[in-house]
Amino acid sequence: MPGGEKRKEATVSTYIPPAQRREKSPHLPFGDMRQTPFYGKDIISVSQFDAAGLEYVFGVAEEMRSMVEHVGTFDLLKGKILANLFYEPSTRTSSSFMAAMQRLGGSVIPINEVRYSSVAKGESLPDTVRTLESYADVIVIRHPEVGAAAIAAQYCRKPIINAGDGVGEHPTQALLDLFTIREELGRTDNLTVTMLGDLKYGRTVHSLSRLLSLFKTRVHCVSPDILRMPPDLVAELKARGMPIQEHAMLDAVLPETDVLYVTRVQKERFEDPAAYESVKGAFVITPETMQSAKNQMVVMHPLPRVGEIAMELDDDPRAAYFRQMEYGLYTRMALLAMVLGKA
Ligand code: CP
Repeated sequence: MPGGEKRKEATVSTYIPPAQRREKSPHLPFGDMRQTPFYGKDIISVSQFDAAGLEYVFGVAEEMRSMVEHVGTFDLLKGKILANLFYEPSTRTSSSFMAAMQRLGGSVIPINEVRYSSVAKGESLPDTVRTLESYADVIVIRHPEVGAAAIAAQYCRKPIINAGDGVGEHPTQALLDLFTIREELGRTDNLTVTMLGDLKYGRTVHSLSRLLSLFKTRVHCVSPDILRMPPDLVAELKARGMPIQEHAMLDAVLPETDVLYVTRVQKERFEDPAAYESVKGAFVITPETMQSAKNQMVVMHPLPRVGEIAMELDDDPRAAYFRQMEYGLYTRMALLAMVLGKA
């Protein structure tokens, strides 16, 4: 269980100090306001969420939205400190977690460039998180290795939130993506979702497709052959009863699509530059492409984009990718408040 039990084959080496491990979800007296479902928990994977848990998150996110619209900043997490630990570049995830903490009245230790931290001197991930837990109440971590957030959680007494672990998961992005769908289309059931682009390395589509499997959702995967959704994930989703089909072209499925989820081909994940060059411009969504799409649908993208959605589409009301970032602020405010027992 992510963040729960000690991993026996940790890939980040250091000793484990057993006496330091703490129960991350302490038993609290009845009526204690910290008795929320996620109080003290790590958020490592979307597999931690069921439909009821998602509704809880989205309910809190809606309250956060209302509070931001009415008062802007408030003191729900006054006195709390977030450590933002990013081993990979980020604009949205990093700054939205910072903004979320500041909107809630808390403060932030930003480590957006680990090369300027003691990581550059060879400090291990466990030692770094044990350092930050001495100063902060919650740690958000992005790391290039799959499983790094789960490993960090084993060594940390404070809640760890996974902000992306290599090609593994990006759970907070998936939560904000589903919140966007819910707010924009008014439902998360009876939808046809088309995922387009780099489905092999795109951790956002891995996490989102798992969340969508909790609902009556049909998924189309459209990608170049070398960037297909991992076969084990497709098998997992089928085993959960999700209707999921793979395609090489968008044309046939766009007219029935309610959510077109576009992803960037991730140059940084390719070992062979020629392979990247062969697929980088495989799909470009333009106003012409959208002529065959429904009027009531949304185009989403986790961003950054590097050409797969033409800027000419930005003024189309179906282009939801900038609104999606704002939904991310409310979702991350909700998550911080929940893990710190203030939701
Ligand atoms: N969507 C997303 O994760 O963006 P950043 O890489 O800018 O955080």
